[in-house]
Amino acid sequence: MPRALSPPDRPIQVTNERHPAMSKQIRLNAFVMNCIGHQSMGMWRHPRDESRRYRTLDYWTNIARTLERGLFDGLFIADVLGVNDVYGGDASAAIRSAAQIPINDPLMLVSAMAGATSHLGFGVTCSLTYETPFVFARRMSTLDHLTGGRIGWNIVTGYLDSAARAAGMRKQVAHDERYDMAEDYMAVVYKLWEASWDEDAIVCDRETAVFADPAKIRVIRHDGPYFQIEAMHLCEPSPQRTPVLYQAGASPKGMGFATRHAECIFINGPSRHVIAGYVRRLREALVARGRAPDSVLIFNMLTVIVAETDAEAEAKLAEYRQYVSREGAFALLSGWSGLDFSQLDPEEQVRHVRTDSMQTAIDRFSAANPDKTWTVGEMADFSGIGGAGPVIAGSPQTIADELEGWMEATGVDGFNLAYTVMPECYVDFVDLVVPELRKRGVYKQDYAEGTLREKLFLAGPRIGAGHPAAEIRALKGQAPALQDA
Ligand SMILES: Cc1cc2nc3c(=O)[nH]c(=O)nc-3n(C[C@H](O)[C@H](O)[C@H](O)COP(=O)(O)O)c2cc1C
Repeated sequence: MPRALSPPDRPIQVTNERHPAMSKQIRLNAFVMNCIGHQSMGMWRHPRDESRRYRTLDYWTNIARTLERGLFDGLFIADVLGVNDVYGGDASAAIRSAAQIPINDPLMLVSAMAGATSHLGFGVTCSLTYETPFVFARRMSTLDHLTGGRIGWNIVTGYLDSAARAAGMRKQVAHDERYDMAEDYMAVVYKLWEASWDEDAIVCDRETAVFADPAKIRVIRHDGPYFQIEAMHLCEPSPQRTPVLYQAGASPKGMGFATRHAECIFINGPSRHVIAGYVRRLREALVARGRAPDSVLIFNMLTVIVAETDAEAEAKLAEYRQYVSREGAFALLSGWSGLDFSQLDPEEQVRHVRTDSMQTAIDRFSAANPDKTWTVGEMADFSGIGGAGPVIAGSPQTIADELEGWMEATGVDGFNLAYTVMPECYVDFVDLVVPELRKRGVYKQDYAEGTLREKLFLAGPRIGAGHPAAEIRALKGQAPALQDA
């Protein structure tokens, strides 16, 4: 019997005809963070866990090679620029349990991993609240060059007040306004990436001594509500120009932003029912925007524990559970939601509360999940392994059945696989589950050629027509229009 640790699910029939059950290939990202504990708190104590080596290149290049051996589409690196200091009013619980602290810079990992692989994509989380668009655009273009067009950006606006205080602000910008800022930020980076340099700006003619043609490089002027710049992009056009855009907003405002900008969307929820609801709303919102419902790849977070047999996998999960840090789980839940869980009774029912952090962190367990009521204690226990996402444990056949079942029931395109014990969780998945998926014909036999965008969408390396970045590209050559766009 499949061992699904998510709560009992009502079967959901997804009516989206562009996603006929199981005719599509399962997409996979590994979901990591440049730290010890990302989603499964306390696993660093497990005797086989190597996450303490997160400070070494060797740790990351080994993971990247393993994922490429398993034909993963990408390695997705989460990030926060603050500490989880909401639980108990300070960061001590997070610090004790290594709950996303200490945490190193995610971008720094990419060059080494790109050097160790040829196809694996890299989705890197960078918060636009704390880095100017001009500086950030150059960092991304640099990585797009160095990876040969394998870079993606997870657009986040942050959710921790501690990050805002670290950046010299009193508190973080209010939830909905963060998305307004993000809109303005995107206009700037699109101009820099798409419109500052013409495709043929580089001449590189040794005879005439002309390296680049000044007439083909434009100064971008932007005078928006949040950002004003006058600059040319410092980088020549990179393979993708605009990196592949990932986003995870799920609140009404967040969904509006995601369906306008994202090419890939991450969602999270404790059950198929919750995920299916998000997917349905996202695809409807895409259609309302005039985008095809399947123009965006939707991934949901999932934690997989696999062994040769169901019994062995359950034993492995039970063994992992012995190391769970409930305190770490509470520290994360409090940081995500903005609610201090130390003030709540574990027997208390989880209720929908509006905060300035991730609005959907609590929704997933309340408003979006009407079939089940959760207590605060249940939510923490659920989150101990795999964060607020579902956990499935079983044999390769059971896991493959579950993945196919999730695809069919929810309409997602694939999964963001969070880690437990590192790196054994990914080695096990690649050795045991990937061959089973390939045998069933639901997983790629080889990588497609080209950039990350070409591999994911089997189209060109540049962002597609109709996207706001492509609209800015189309304005190239009309400099005055660029100033107001
Ligand atoms: C799977 C997933 C991964 C996320 N990773 C990050 C992250 O690494 N850093 C971050 O600041 N926010 C992260 N977020 C938070 C989102 O960017 C966003 O703030 C969150 O979904 C709340 O948006 P909403 O209030 O519009 O629902 C993640 C969200 C999800 C669902």
